[in-house]
Amino acid sequence: MKKLWFLSLAAMVIFLTSGIASSGEPAKNAKEVFEKRCSTCHGLGRATSAKKDPDEWNKTVQRMKAKKNANITDEEAKIITEYLSETYKKEK
Ligand code: HEC
Repeated sequence: MKKLWFLSLAAMVIFLTSGIASSGEPAKNAKEVFEKRCSTCHGLGRATSAKKDPDEWNKTVQRMKAKKNANITDEEAKIITEYLSETYKKEK
């Protein structure tokens, strides 16, 4: 009986720590953050049809962030800028 109790406690610890580990991983969720934050006013196509260098994406994201009711945090803007700079970059 004592052993069973210990096992369920161990399972709970693993469950909890794996949840914490995955939520602290922004890079994996970058696409989701982008899709959630950048689709509220216009379609995602506005961004996905564009090709910009990192500096231009930074300017665009900051401009979108500054719009009324955009609801984009500094942290999210950073994640989105990195994601777009990597995924939709100019072919030189
Ligand atoms: C609060 C509403 C709003 C949100 C949220 C928003 N946009 Fe926009 N976006 C606009 C409006 C309005 C325009 C057209 C006018 C303009 O360009 O400022 C636009 C235009 C654009 C354009 C075309 C103009 C350009 O500079 O290339 C791109 C690309 C774009 N948005 C990307 C994004 C991205 C990426 C996000 C998420 C970080 C985002 N938008 C979030 C309102 C929004």
